[in-house]
Formats: sequence, structure tokens, C-alpha cells
Amino acid sequence: MCSSDLQVRLAVYPGSFDPVTNGHIDILEKTCKIFDKIIVAVVHNVSKQALFTLDERVTLIEESTKHLDNIEVECFSGLLANYLRTKDACAIIRGLRTVADFEYEMHMAMINKRLIPEVDTIFIMSDSRNIFVSSSIIKEAALLGGDVSELVPEVVRLKLETKRREMKQE
Ligand code: COA
Repeated sequence: MCSSDLQVRLAVYPGSFDPVTNGHIDILEKTCKIFDKIIVAVVHNVSKQALFTLDERVTLIEESTKHLDNIEVECFSGLLANYLRTKDACAIIRGLRTVADFEYEMHMAMINKRLIPEVDTIFIMSDSRNIFVSSSIIKEAALLGGDVSELVPEVVRLKLETKRREMKQE
């Protein structure tokens, strides 16, 4: 039974969030009005070298979404489709920045639809202010001393600054 049968529309927003950016927050601010509850699902992506631990990423998202009351943050590993089943989710949320995101996202949506047909992927257009933002570009700019204060929540900016200082001392 999907949670929609109980009138609780639960969606999952998966990603590595290393770290969360204003681009992700924008997607959450838009979708939290559509769904009753959203779980931000932080995954360890084996193909990416992470700067922040999973626990750090979860804490940064929790602190950055305090103004939204229907958001929960969890970690998951393995297949997204299996995780969605355990949560009784009815949707996957994904943000689209430019047309460059589309092909990858379409393939992901199709494989997930095949793996868990009762769940649809919902795409939300990013705000034009965030279309060039990615976690990698933010990390690179911040660790080289660039000002990213307009691109990430303040807690993330401070944590990036701490990482920059630690790396300078090594
Ligand atoms: N604003 C700003 N940046 C955004 C964004 C937005 N709205 N949406 C995405 N991004 C950025 C992210 O910060 C990330 O940047 P990075 O590459 O520099 O780290 C990049 O775009 C890609 O984001 P995303 O696709 O969310 O991250 P991901 O590739 O780490 O996550 C999963 C993809 C988690 C959804 C996918 O790997 C997954 O489902 N994994 C589980 C295994 C599985 O089931 N696979 C599929 C079936 S085989």
C-alpha cells in the first residue's frame, strides 16, 4: 500500500548533498508545499570523493531546513527503489537545472520506474539563480578562498571555512 492511500503523500529527495546548497534548499522549499512529508535521503555515492561525512551532511541539511516543518533527513545505502519501498513513498523528487541534466535524469527516472512502478519521479525546475550551482563547484570555490555566501546556507559556509582552515594546516 502506498502512503497516498492513507492521504500522507511522502516523497523522497535523494542525493549526495556534499554539501547541501541553496539549489537544493530551493527545490525543498517548492516541494514541501506539494507533499505532506519529504525525506531528504543522503547517499554515499561510491563514484564521488566526499568532503563531508554522512553525519556532517545530515546535520548541515537539518540545520538548513529548520524553517520547513515537514522535512526529515536520513542516510541510505543500496538501491533507491528498495529504500522507497521501506518508506512507502509515492514520489522521488529531482531538480532540473539546465537541459544538460535532462538526459541523465530521464534515464534514472526510467530505471526507477521499472524497479518500482508505483513511484513516479517529479521534476522541479531550479530557480535561475541556482542553475550553475553544484556541490563540487561550491567546494572548489570555497576551499580556494572564494566567497560562496550567496550560494549556500550560512551553516554550510561556516563549515566549508573550517574545512579550508584545517586543510591549510595539514
Ligand atoms: N541545485 C544545485 N545543485 C544541484 C541541484 C540543484 N537543484 N540538483 C543537483 N545538484 C548537483 C548536486 O550538488 C551534485 O553536485 P556534484 O556532482 O558536484 O556533487 C550534482 O548536481 C548531482 O546531484 P545528484 O544527482 O543529486 O547527486 P548524486 O549523483 O550524488 O545522487 C542519486 C544521485 C543518489 C539519486 C543516485 O545515485 C541514486 O539513486 N543512488 C542509489 C543507487 C540507485 O538506486 N541507483 C539507480 C538505479 S541503478
